[in-house]
Amino acid sequence: MTFLSDLEIVAEALDRQIASARAGAVPVLEQRPMAAIIEDLQLERFAHRGGLEGDALRRFMDRYLETIINLHQPGYMGHQVAVPHQAAGFGALIDGLTNNPMAIYEMGPGAAAIEYFVVNWMLEKIGWTPSPLEPGRQTGGRYGGGVLTHGGSLANLTALITARTAIRPDAWRTGHQGGNQNELAVMAPGNNHYSIERAVGILGLGTGNIYAIPTDARGAMDPRALPHTLARIRSDGKTPLALIANACSTAVGVYDRLRPIGEFCRDQDIWFHVDSAHGAAALLTPDYRHLMDGVELASSVTWDAHKMMRTSSVCAALLVRDHRHIDKAFDQEASYLFHDKEQPGFDFLHRAVECTKSGMGLRFFLVLATLGEEGLGHYVERQYRLAAQAYDYLKGLDGVEVPVAPESNILCFRAPGSDARQLDLRNRILAKGDFYITSTLFANKRYLRLVFMNPETDLDDVKRLMEQIRQFGADCRTA
Ligand SMILES: Cc1ncc(COP(=O)(O)O)c(C=O)c1O
Repeated sequence: MTFLSDLEIVAEALDRQIASARAGAVPVLEQRPMAAIIEDLQLERFAHRGGLEGDALRRFMDRYLETIINLHQPGYMGHQVAVPHQAAGFGALIDGLTNNPMAIYEMGPGAAAIEYFVVNWMLEKIGWTPSPLEPGRQTGGRYGGGVLTHGGSLANLTALITARTAIRPDAWRTGHQGGNQNELAVMAPGNNHYSIERAVGILGLGTGNIYAIPTDARGAMDPRALPHTLARIRSDGKTPLALIANACSTAVGVYDRLRPIGEFCRDQDIWFHVDSAHGAAALLTPDYRHLMDGVELASSVTWDAHKMMRTSSVCAALLVRDHRHIDKAFDQEASYLFHDKEQPGFDFLHRAVECTKSGMGLRFFLVLATLGEEGLGHYVERQYRLAAQAYDYLKGLDGVEVPVAPESNILCFRAPGSDARQLDLRNRILAKGDFYITSTLFANKRYLRLVFMNPETDLDDVKRLMEQIRQFGADCRTA
């Protein structure tokens, strides 16, 4: 079998599947038992004997595609995962077949150049100075920097590593005990993505050293509470390592007010990290850019392309205002990689946790280059607006509680009944397969959660979802 004929088999199967999903002709999700999938796909047989080509590949594709979650189905209103543009898929294919692990320039000059370009594009959107194209030749002058990471969680970890090196350059070698220094503390609103707490744990800072900053009724950080939280850290004999803000929060999609928080951090000389893995997308639209107002005051920013940038997983970025911090973050030697060499490009290796890095910039760049930044901005705007429309609609239903007016494309609501009833409704919705939604705790109550990622989901889909919830016995009618 030739490469092209197998590629055609794969392309045809995908084309059919995505068209069926977009037309709503297949369920969003049908969860069969894992053992049945392993048997049906004949994994054991192919693993032993090989031969998954030609007609066998065709059959495999058909069966495999019956097992997927169909993000392209308009009933997909689930996690913050991009419904990818086809250009992102081409990027993944090209990178998959060429496999250029571009963390060192010579292992993928094109992919490294694209990463450099994409990082600069993001830096400019934030309002920072992009890196010069010939970094080795430049001395002095402040400019930003960054690296693409395999996910926002890794970007957040990289941010805290960078912040730690900035404040305790010796910690890399001596750990946190060296020189009898104070313990380091992290300030965060407490409703951060769990990767923040995980990063603190991984760094050995102790998750008990996260000081929760009080939030308002919407779960947004209250900037007036910052002096008191900092005073508590100091009176406990600790040193602030970083303050982390949400833009936006994972559960309900609300943005912390970045300008007053950033000004506080600047005045107090505290590393300010903005976790805008999801919400940095607002920078692309004039109608919603104000939500990111003040982001330029940050020391570092997380921005996932594989959330709101229509880009296949994974492609995230950690961006810093001053490139020198990330260039110093990892203080290591590896003789087979780090040595003097003549090269016309840039190595990302010294900025990354990963050693082998996929050429993930290509996935995002091809989307950007197809839609243009205005096209991407229109998508973001449409999705954010849909959440506002859905909010108005849900508020008008008897018995439905909507805790927070949406600021992004994330919207939570509660059908009549207990916490357990919300989970029961979600289970029934998933089992039926027409919709995929998530659920979250907010202010100690369980909510159903919609995230409008699909560019073809509209208000009628939300109405159909509510009709189904009514059929499951929830009493929520138009008031
Ligand atoms: C605010 C925020 N930060 C970080 C992450 C983690 O990103 P990733 O799933 O790419 O690791 C998420 C994921 O939902 C998020 O919402």
